Amino acid sequence: MKSKIFAFCPLLFLLLPNFFPSLFSPLSRAFPSLLSEWNAPKPMHLNLLNGAMQRVIFDDYRSRVWSPLPDQGLKPCQDFSKSQNLPKRSRGYIQVFLDGGLNQQRMGICDAVAVAKILNVTLLIPYLEVNPVWKDSSSFTDIFDVDHFINALKDEVYIIKELPAEYSWSTREYYATGIRATRIKNAPVHASPSWYIEDVLPVIESYGIAAIAPFSHRLAFDDLHPDIQHLRCKVNFEALAFVPQITALAGALIDRLRNPLSAKRKGEHMNKLEGMNGIEAGKYIVLHLRFDKDMAAHSACDFGGGEAEKRALAKYRQVIWQGRVLNSQFKDDELRNQGRCPLTPEDIGLLLAALGFDNNTRLYLASHKVYGGEARISVLQKLFPLMEDKKSLLSADERALIDGKASLSAAVDYHVSMQSDVFISASPGNMHNALLGHRAYKNLKTIRPNMVLLGKLFLNQSMEWSDFQQAVADGHKNRQGQIRLRKKKQSIYTYPAPDCMCKGRLQRLFGGLTSLVQ
Ligand SMILES: *[C@@H]1O[C@H](CO)[C@@H](O)[C@H](O)[C@H]1NC(C)=O
Ligand SMILES: *[C@@H]1O[C@H](CO)[C@@H](O)[C@H](O)[C@H]1NC(C)=O
Ligand SMILES: *[C@@H]1O[C@H](CO)[C@@H](O)[C@H](O)[C@H]1NC(C)=O
Repeated sequence: MKSKIFAFCPLLFLLLPNFFPSLFSPLSRAFPSLLSEWNAPKPMHLNLLNGAMQRVIFDDYRSRVWSPLPDQGLKPCQDFSKSQNLPKRSRGYIQVFLDGGLNQQRMGICDAVAVAKILNVTLLIPYLEVNPVWKDSSSFTDIFDVDHFINALKDEVYIIKELPAEYSWSTREYYATGIRATRIKNAPVHASPSWYIEDVLPVIESYGIAAIAPFSHRLAFDDLHPDIQHLRCKVNFEALAFVPQITALAGALIDRLRNPLSAKRKGEHMNKLEGMNGIEAGKYIVLHLRFDKDMAAHSACDFGGGEAEKRALAKYRQVIWQGRVLNSQFKDDELRNQGRCPLTPEDIGLLLAALGFDNNTRLYLASHKVYGGEARISVLQKLFPLMEDKKSLLSADERALIDGKASLSAAVDYHVSMQSDVFISASPGNMHNALLGHRAYKNLKTIRPNMVLLGKLFLNQSMEWSDFQQAVADGHKNRQGQIRLRKKKQSIYTYPAPDCMCKGRLQRLFGGLTSLVQ
């Protein structure tokens, strides 16, 4: 009974101010945090939105945004396993426990294989911890094709699914319930190979096994042997494949995005699709949209939700970070000028419209989570009426496989994103980085929003649509997937060149790569 009453509360609160205005103010004083975020956020750039709604996309813009990237002279290195001989014997066992969401765990898996190789030990299939936010208990084998994984790496590293009986005591429960000599708790962030040889190998020599937890970001990106770098890329880009259930579900999504007319919702879409022509037929773009309360509050920017939203975000900052948020020292326009405000769905919609995506664009929303909910999404939907997501494209039965499973759901989105003609991420983060790297490896188009430029453009309240369009196009010419070479300390998984990408045959013959040298 009690739980039912609680479940109805939000609804009651929603209705109250309309029907019982006199009750509203005492209530709002008693529960300010419940009431404060009601005002639906309004569009912030009405001027530009009007322009974007009537946008005319010239053919050269259209073909530019949809055309694949030209060959950039770099290909995945083929000679991965040449010098990667399997050691004659394994020196023991290593196991890792991985925190974070799926894309962070992915990097951990790659590093774990590299560490096993550095130490000449056998790796137990990594254990994926249940993340307190995402709460998905799916294991490695629920997500990744474990036989493919082991087989793809069999000439380089020993990998096993289960520890032999004599080590079966070495479980997560064992490490969770006491201080254990075989647990490595203090692996430094970005540790060097010599740290592993000096600090982990002796444990393995003494006990036969070492368990490293935590293990996120625990292997350096610089000054590693090229073979180890190649191996990391091979794991990330070749050995990690999703299980068939995930690729099948993603495949259904991709098929429905590419062939909307043959999809089951034929009638519904027929009208919308008339006039679809030319280069973008059968193509789709994936937008990874993350605009959650955490991000919005932490940025300390103003997102057009008025006083109520401002107060709610300030309160959230106070509760979560005790007000210690660097950005809150700055005013909104200062933050925008520096490109430090996350892009809202509206901002991203305007960016895509200005880049040359018309209203026939099939836009797939990946793992979106939007503070402000439907009201914020609806602006984007107005600009892109053919916007889709898992909910719109899959039946309830199909969704049952991933419902409430954040990691499986993220895996499906990863696969759909990898197959898309264009990918854009509205916010930096693990998924953004993972796809940026993987798509660079396959020379696929990825748009990187120019935050500083957009911040400045959005500050100008009298900006004309045509000027905006021109400035956006100019400011994103070199942000569509052109190879960027990894700099020191940057992740090899985000920037796989040059470590994992080699000159193509023609480039080798003619000493090419001029575009990179410039
Ligand atoms: C691992 O094995 C290789 C030869 O296969 C050897 O060169 C290297 O020194 C070994 N490393 C360790 C830490 O045992
Ligand atoms: C796109 O815009 C044109 C012109 O404004 C309109 O006729 C058409 O119906 C729109 N398409 C969709 C899918 O809304
Ligand atoms: C704002 O936009 C208008 C119209 O597009 C332009 O004429 C003006 O120079 C811009 N102002 C600034 C400060 O950039």
